[in-house]
Amino acid sequence: MEKQKIDILLGLQWGDEGKGKIVDVVTPKYDVVARFQGGPNAGHSLEFNGIRHVLHIIPSGIFHKEKTNIIGNGVVIDPITFEEEIDALKNMGLTPTDNLFVSKKAHLILPTHRLLDAAYESQKGDKKIGSTLKGIGPTYTDKTARTGLRVCDLISPNFAEKYSQAITQHLKILDGLGFDYKTTLPELEHKWRASLATLKSFTFIDSEYEMYDYLQSGKSVLAEGAQGTMLDLEFGAYPFVTSSNTIAAGAFTGLGLDPHLAGKVIGIVKAYCTRVGSGPFPTELFDATGEQLRKQGNEYGATTGRPRRCGWLDLVALKYALMINGVTDIALTKADVMDNFETINICTAYKVNGELTTRMPTETDAIIEPVYTPLKGWMQNISSCKTYDELPQTFKDYIRFIEEETHVKVSIVSVGPDRDATIFRD
Ligand code: GDP
Ligand code: IMO
Ligand code: MG
Repeated sequence: MEKQKIDILLGLQWGDEGKGKIVDVVTPKYDVVARFQGGPNAGHSLEFNGIRHVLHIIPSGIFHKEKTNIIGNGVVIDPITFEEEIDALKNMGLTPTDNLFVSKKAHLILPTHRLLDAAYESQKGDKKIGSTLKGIGPTYTDKTARTGLRVCDLISPNFAEKYSQAITQHLKILDGLGFDYKTTLPELEHKWRASLATLKSFTFIDSEYEMYDYLQSGKSVLAEGAQGTMLDLEFGAYPFVTSSNTIAAGAFTGLGLDPHLAGKVIGIVKAYCTRVGSGPFPTELFDATGEQLRKQGNEYGATTGRPRRCGWLDLVALKYALMINGVTDIALTKADVMDNFETINICTAYKVNGELTTRMPTETDAIIEPVYTPLKGWMQNISSCKTYDELPQTFKDYIRFIEEETHVKVSIVSVGPDRDATIFRD
């Protein structure tokens, strides 16, 4: 049996590119789908049979009963969100304990992590990151500080001691920050403890051994990223980032993979850009066009419901993301949202402090002015197109423009939220 390569699917912008939908659509090609980072800050939507599903921690391959799904060591798990997601799946008649496995090394989001997230954000005043307040930053902070709790601790005889040590430490910080937790914590803790039973009903694994065995035995694996490259801890506009490595390299640490086994890297690109939370967004539109994108694209957060900031496609940021991730294939989503746009702008360069450049500036306070190339809109409904040939020539010209600029093939074109609204171009 020939050893398989692992394909990686991730977002190339600021998250919400449509990763959940594309993972669900390509899952039939794989044996295993594995999440490698992030946690309940993610909201991955997918649609079939007229119903929309939103997943936060659970991999987007879960609706394919015969496929194995893995939550890797790089993910942070909130047992409360986990239970809510599992209940929703069970209500649909699925039995996730059969095909979902959880890494023993994944870190746990404790009730106080959520409170710390809120406390740190409120300290920042007008410099807020716009965190989803799910406890992501504080949990990864404890992980690197070596004070975190992992899934394997849940079944350790020392769990109570470890838990109380961590909580005591967190309460000292919250007290220091003057954050009132007395009214919220008891109920949150109660819910958290009650939800552990669901998490504990799953099989805990060492994902690194499982991955090795799958690939050795010829099984194909898709690694599913959360957030997007421009929110990566290292390469996003720090500090307006999330606390994990959202890039392709994160799949290797987040699952325990041999880097020689990298296969395709599928980068999800929304035909325009959105961002939730604070931080630089060079092509952001504050006018009626931005509002039109938000309305027509239904750009409201799948996790927090917040309106997403909207703007034109940014090729400077995209080329940076393609470079860092070694993207082999682009999946282009949501172009149908611009069906009635006469002109579509694409940012091909920046003026940074007056100087023309095609590089991403590191300094978060750089004054960036986007330079646009206007393209003709297709002014036609593309959402019912089933094949590439059926798509209007103007839309194909738009795709060719992206390919010529990026030197990466647009292999998948998504023209609607449903599973069926997907065109493969092989
Ligand atoms: P993710 O976080 O990358 O999985 O993306 P989200 O689920 O947060 O946001 C993407 C939104 O766009 C969801 O509501 C999807 O149902 C929807 N969507 C995905 N692909 C398409 C598409 O091609 N066209 C349209 N109109 N909507 C899409
Ligand atoms: P998916 O996987 C969009 C943003 C938050 C905030 C910053 C840090 O659905 O694409 P955090 O809670 O991680 O500390 O927040 O990152 N953010 C996302 N934006 N999509 C996401 O996930 C996001 N996850 C976090 O809005 O600006
Ligand atoms: Mg999302």
